[in-house]
Amino acid sequence: MTLPNFAFFKGRIVPYSEAKVGVLTHTFNYGTGVFGGVRGYWNTEEEQLFLFRPYDHYQRFLESAKLMLMELPHTDADLVQFTLDLCRAEDFRTDCYIRPISYFADEIIGVRLHGLHADVAMMAIPFGSYVENEEGSHVTFSSWRRVDDNMIPARGKISGAYVNSAFIKTDAQRSGFDEAIVLNQDGHIAEGSAENFFIVRKGVVCTPPITDNILEGITRRTVIMLLRDDLGVEVVERPLDRTEVYLAEEAFFCGTGVQIAAITAVDHRPIGSGILGPITKELRRLYFDAVRGRFAKYRDFCVPVYPGKSR
Ligand SMILES: Cc1ncc(COP(=O)(O)O)c(C=O)c1O
Repeated sequence: MTLPNFAFFKGRIVPYSEAKVGVLTHTFNYGTGVFGGVRGYWNTEEEQLFLFRPYDHYQRFLESAKLMLMELPHTDADLVQFTLDLCRAEDFRTDCYIRPISYFADEIIGVRLHGLHADVAMMAIPFGSYVENEEGSHVTFSSWRRVDDNMIPARGKISGAYVNSAFIKTDAQRSGFDEAIVLNQDGHIAEGSAENFFIVRKGVVCTPPITDNILEGITRRTVIMLLRDDLGVEVVERPLDRTEVYLAEEAFFCGTGVQIAAITAVDHRPIGSGILGPITKELRRLYFDAVRGRFAKYRDFCVPVYPGKSR
């Protein structure tokens, strides 16, 4: 991966090489940070870069920070502005990914959340696909369980919880799968290692509820809206059993990184007919139009980076 040219660090844009923290930094040692992941989509016709739902991403970022008792002086609008400044500095003319992180900057020994000082940093890189098989992934059920709300809250994007995601992803890939679906402590489906999960069963789209230890995904919200309002499909949020997946007509992951990735086999069992299904296919088409600012109805989700180019 090519390193970024710049970073937002200690309140301003600096060369990336100057954005450094000491090895004693609290979050580096204890995983006490919170982070986000925002995509920027290049629209060729308009020569414009659009950030997709950045306000929603930063509202969740601030909520994750609140869970971690971080006192940040920034609003969601401030954070969007820093992101725009950073993307302009990088002068992207391609799809990109922005990684904001809020971390306890104190260089001390001592596990706790209180009495610490949080700081925000951001980096941005050019970015294409996150998974290779977006139209036909083969996944497995992980032998790991999703972190529970009473362990590390999965609803927030908390750095330390990604050790759980890393175990899930590595064991799946080392066993030859693209990804894994992880169950929660009750044995119901939670999500993927870093993406929310949906199935289509008897024509109804089903996805685990927020209370089943999933991240409160922004793409999940977009997908539910597109399915209900634009495809006219029924969507139900309810606990999902493992074996319902084996019987599903379609299944897919969604997330900022993965976008919408069709799952066509689970544990060597074909899902439906084993190829990209019609609902997932149509959903992917609508989603990619929406994120690039080509879906007039959802244009307000897309925040232009370069002034004077669009609108
Ligand atoms: C654990 C987990 N679930 C779901 C998602 C999808 O969330 P979003 O759509 O907000 O990117 C992510 C995204 O990074 C994630 O890390």
